Amino acid sequence: MAILTILHYPDPRLREAGKPVDAITDEVKKFVGDMAETMYAAPGVGLAATQVGVALRIFVIDIADEGEPSALQVFINAEIVEKRGKIEWKEGCLSFPGASENIDRAEWVKVRAKGLDGELFELEAEGLLAVAVQHENDHLDGKLMIDKLGPLRKRVLHRKMLAGAN
Ligand code: NI
Repeated sequence: MAILTILHYPDPRLREAGKPVDAITDEVKKFVGDMAETMYAAPGVGLAATQVGVALRIFVIDIADEGEPSALQVFINAEIVEKRGKIEWKEGCLSFPGASENIDRAEWVKVRAKGLDGELFELEAEGLLAVAVQHENDHLDGKLMIDKLGPLRKRVLHRKMLAGAN
């Protein structure tokens, strides 16, 4: 496995949408392994393929607390099929090092995706997991957390990222 380079805002590759994965080949499996290793090394709770410059609809999430056994969840060709409620969550993103922003999200989602075994599954998620699914799925549409901020916060974060030692 290998640790991949995480792209930082405002890298234009973060704006590319991911294409659906046709077949879960050995290459895809290896890539997902690398994504997981990269996420754990960062460390982060989620990582989308476009954040490492690969325009495919794949993201990984692990929301296990420190001290808990890891619980990797792999989402291939995910679709959010239902959303409910509203929650404000303080989010970070590995493509925005050091930033944390209050973002409005649905508080509950139902997501349909394929796992690494190629089987379709449905997952109902709330709280942190629901937020992470929405955040990572946005990445695969080329959408970033900065897009969800008001004009002032957007400008401040943009400037901070340009000034940061990316
Ligand atoms: Ni992110």
